[in-house]
Amino acid sequence: MSELLIRGRVLTFVSEPQGIDDAASYRYIEDGAVFVRNGKVVEIGSYGDIRKRAGANADVADHRPNLVLPGLIDTHLHFPQTQAIASYGAQLLEWLNTYIFVEEQKFAGAAHAAEVADRFMDELLSNGTTTAVAYCSVHPESVDAYFAAAEARGMCVIGGKVMMDRNAPEALRDTPQRGYDETKRLIEKWHGRGRSHYAISPRFAITSTPEQMEMSQALVAEHPSCYVQTHLSENRDEIAFATSLYPEAKDYTDIYARYGLLNDRTLLGHCIHMSEREISVLAETGAVGVFCPTSNLFLGSGLFNAAEFDRLGARWSVATDVGAGTSFSMLETMDEAYKVLHLQGQRLTPFNSFYRMTRGNALALGLEKQIGSLQAGADADIVVLDSSAKSAMEFRMRTATSLAEELFILQTMGDDRCVREVYVAGKAMKTKRKSADTIAREQLQLA
Ligand code: GUN
Ligand code: ZN
Repeated sequence: MSELLIRGRVLTFVSEPQGIDDAASYRYIEDGAVFVRNGKVVEIGSYGDIRKRAGANADVADHRPNLVLPGLIDTHLHFPQTQAIASYGAQLLEWLNTYIFVEEQKFAGAAHAAEVADRFMDELLSNGTTTAVAYCSVHPESVDAYFAAAEARGMCVIGGKVMMDRNAPEALRDTPQRGYDETKRLIEKWHGRGRSHYAISPRFAITSTPEQMEMSQALVAEHPSCYVQTHLSENRDEIAFATSLYPEAKDYTDIYARYGLLNDRTLLGHCIHMSEREISVLAETGAVGVFCPTSNLFLGSGLFNAAEFDRLGARWSVATDVGAGTSFSMLETMDEAYKVLHLQGQRLTPFNSFYRMTRGNALALGLEKQIGSLQAGADADIVVLDSSAKSAMEFRMRTATSLAEELFILQTMGDDRCVREVYVAGKAMKTKRKSADTIAREQLQLA
């Protein structure tokens, strides 16, 4: 039996914050501790109380004065695009054709997929992200690499092979039957193994024929515990193209509805240019719109309307969308989310931002018992955040007078440098990793 006390300023959410300081929505313990036994949270409380309850041999990780929160959750990104971030000058369809469909061809090689998967998981952890929902490439080897890299680290992840059978280079196309067979094999291999979950992943309506959509429908019907992920209404040219390919559909959302792809385990990337009817369909089916602010700004796609989702009772989550997203950091992502909503006269409060990155995203995945909070029985996925990690932050923090203000500074000025430690199922993952500087120095010496 291993016991660990993670000491610091503990913060975890119990419900969605309403207003600027909804104290009922969170628990904050100034000199607190998370009591971890065998990778699970036993309880949180004051350090004094928890110290008495734990065994005399329990290890103590003292992170004072830093904040201790549940690990961050990223609900949409593309692992094969790790090396294609910051590809210049194009909107969605041109960007896919010019950069992404070239990059993803490299994942036919298992060695390349394994190397990038390792780097991808380490990048997530460096940024305090302990759970990710990712697209792999069309190659089954890329899915094996993705789940193997997560499993080696003990991480809870969701992912799947993209299915594409048209409007993509031949090397990246499968067929309806191959997409079905390969997905089925990967579900059998990975779904429910350890902390891995499978997402059935037709990339978007443009790259799947009606026959492939039917096969996706069959997969969803045969595997109701799997997630479904695809893209919806990101860019105006994309919408025009998608709806022209499915003239019988009422609108873009209706394409997915017709093929039975919308349910409460469906994650729909972007959802920017949506009618009231379409958002209402998401509300009725429980499908989640995924807000990817850095990506939406980078590709010039548009502004996600969170208030409209709330008004119509539709669910939404937040995500980086690397490689159209420009950072692995959920802090930087929420900084941009704040600005995107601000441009539309909407206000994302600091508590709501931190709720969204943790419990909110866990709820979107239906994994709120396991991740996203520090409640008893949860997996001990934990991030330690330093609000004074950069000199400008330290100077700004001297004038902060409330927790909400501190969180806003963290989100607005913070990045991976603020992540002092990250625990996956109670195991410290950051401090034992080589820094990027060390890796670079080693490579120079080898060259
Ligand atoms: N739509 C279809 N594929 C993609 C992708 O890889 N990235 C983004 N941002 N949108 C997409
Ligand atoms: Zn995407």
